[in-house]
Amino acid sequence: MNPDDREPVMTEPKGLRAADLTLEEKAALTSGADFWTTKAIDRVGVPSIMLTDGPHGLRKQATGNDHLGLAGSVPATCFPPAVGLSATFDPELAERVGVALGVESAIEDVAVILGPGINIKRSPLCGRNFEYMSEDPIVSGAMGAGLVKGIQSQGVGSSLKHFAANNQETDRLRVSSDVDPRPLREIYLRGFERVVRDAQPWTVMCSYNRINGVYASEDPWLLTQVLREEWGFDGIVVSDWGAVNDRVAGLVAGMDLEMPSSGGRTDAELVAAVRDGRLDERDLDAVADRLLELARKAQARAAATDPLDVDAHHALAREVAGRAIVLLKNEGTLPLPRNARLAVIGEFARTPRFQGAGSSQINPTRVDAALDAIRAVAGDVPFAAGFDITPEGVSEAETARLRDEAVSVARDAGTVLLFLGVPSHEESEGYDREHIDLPAAQLDLLDAIVEVNPEVVVVLSNGGVVALPFARKVPAIVEAWLLGQAGGSATADVLFGDVNPSGRLAETIPLRLEDTPAYGSFPGEHGHVRYGEGLLVGYRWYDEKQLAVRYPFGHGLSYTTFAYGDAVAAVRDDGDVVVVVPVTNTGRVAGREVVQAYTSLPGSDVQRPPHELKAFASVQLAPGETASVTLRIRRSELAYWDIRVDRWIVESGAYVIDVGSSSRDLRTSTTVVVDGDEVVLPASLNSSFDELLLDPVVGSDLRAMIEERYGTGENQLLKMLGNFPVGRLDGFPLPRADLVELVERAQRG
Ligand code: BGC
Repeated sequence: MNPDDREPVMTEPKGLRAADLTLEEKAALTSGADFWTTKAIDRVGVPSIMLTDGPHGLRKQATGNDHLGLAGSVPATCFPPAVGLSATFDPELAERVGVALGVESAIEDVAVILGPGINIKRSPLCGRNFEYMSEDPIVSGAMGAGLVKGIQSQGVGSSLKHFAANNQETDRLRVSSDVDPRPLREIYLRGFERVVRDAQPWTVMCSYNRINGVYASEDPWLLTQVLREEWGFDGIVVSDWGAVNDRVAGLVAGMDLEMPSSGGRTDAELVAAVRDGRLDERDLDAVADRLLELARKAQARAAATDPLDVDAHHALAREVAGRAIVLLKNEGTLPLPRNARLAVIGEFARTPRFQGAGSSQINPTRVDAALDAIRAVAGDVPFAAGFDITPEGVSEAETARLRDEAVSVARDAGTVLLFLGVPSHEESEGYDREHIDLPAAQLDLLDAIVEVNPEVVVVLSNGGVVALPFARKVPAIVEAWLLGQAGGSATADVLFGDVNPSGRLAETIPLRLEDTPAYGSFPGEHGHVRYGEGLLVGYRWYDEKQLAVRYPFGHGLSYTTFAYGDAVAAVRDDGDVVVVVPVTNTGRVAGREVVQAYTSLPGSDVQRPPHELKAFASVQLAPGETASVTLRIRRSELAYWDIRVDRWIVESGAYVIDVGSSSRDLRTSTTVVVDGDEVVLPASLNSSFDELLLDPVVGSDLRAMIEERYGTGENQLLKMLGNFPVGRLDGFPLPRADLVELVERAQRG
């Protein structure tokens, strides 16, 4: 955009406050002017600002207004969607992508880019998993924070979304995610908390769904108590597009900006609510002040002067895509010699699937196809499409013809590069997947090819994970996700060894859909989805149930090998735990290892998954090089959410820290003793005998009184009575007056 076309800058007075605006002007600030912009208030010089998608590229619509990616948008770099980015396990790389997104937003005069999306991948069936980071909150939070820092370093705001517990597309505008407090805090909110605390996004986008019956867009607990009061968020809460149910309730709950425009209807509702006393004008003032601050922040950015460096951003997209590829299996076929006698099979090699459908759909500046990139290295390699990927499908005869043609091409090759994947119409924003299988025609093709030529490298294009029933039949599998516009060349980089793969699974690849944690309860019914697996999401589930998986969380191979020395851990003065582990590249080529630290607490008083990822680091090593890798486990990440006192509690004890290359490839272990938080439960007549016996003030007196009356040998009595509230049985085992006195003394402390 020409800088002269920018909206008038916020003129004076700089310290404009809600109090300077009329009631109608304040209400006007709280909702969009159209699909993508806020309202200007010309009288006092408040500019309109633009918010637009996101998250892995800029989707600024030139014409047409929709939020589902239907109309076109200005060309922008399509970086790897979150499914790929998170597989790098590298928040610094995410930050570099964020910088690039910020630069592109600034050039287009976009004030806020709508991302990142960090919802937990509760089920592989969620249609939008390609837009989300991980099944683990630490990975989601760390990667999300990296992106936000990068974007906002350019004077552009981010919008952390979708807050919260929006883990499916089915009935997404109404469904209630019914989730218990511990999983809600420890799994579903933890990543959001980390991003808010570490990176202070300018905005947070509240989700469409309800949480335990309350719409996220009008939940004072979520938007005010947790987000602002506990986490210290001081930005704007923006509604997901169309998430507003009751505007007045939403405003009171802390939902600042409604998007898109309601055509003035909800502004009028707010004005009427103030006039008839249902809404305190001070609540509206607080929201208007925050929105004025957002406009000020947006205007503080200097107008971009340089045009988009298309080549540089494409190169970054290629670097990130190369880092995102996960080498699932390799029996020595890869990397390919440059003179290998290859055949490329599979429509995805020619027609890359590099992003998902919906509001995140970017209009890329260019697109690299893997077939072209492979031919650029290995010459005129033969190709056959092998199968059809159109939504309409083709006849059985055409399916057979495509297969037979591909088999005859494969027969003559040394190595077959077989590009399989999920057709785009099978995964998208707006609806969930029905299964995790590759199309039957593709599986049949694979079987037919393996019969004539077993030297097959499978390259996958998919946004959500797929079952891999053929894993034992082929010598190599490359998980190439949806990798953005440079994914094709990045794939060739990895296949030929120009890039040594280092991506890791941020989500488990299960053997079967039936094994997955939410199987049976996803996507719920009649407006409710019960998160019955509780804390056991992703690898936490498979490990607790001791289930075999196809490839575990954190897995990813390299063309080199790494050896781990002994890990040591210590608690720092600030309570964080530092783990140091020597890692050596024992192979012949340079490579990158993702070192992962998982903790457990044997004998814990509360339910815990067998182990949980708490820290990770990505380290590049030359052949023979050893690095001393330092991982910092935040004390806060060791905490569980204690529902008795409604706060985070770090339990005391000897924490085991297992360090390794994946959740199921742990190489070294150490222990660290952590001095935890004290949980003091207020004494009452509803305290149990067991609890009162542990009370520091009266516990020993209670024991003495019982022993005096029943003798010291009566342990059985205490055992049976232990869980009785002390006030429940009048006169037994002690006079009520004595128990009341003990409780009152305990309460005085
Ligand atoms: C999506 C958001 C998106 C918004 C604007 C909604 O349907 O859920 O992720 O940012 O539309 O396009």
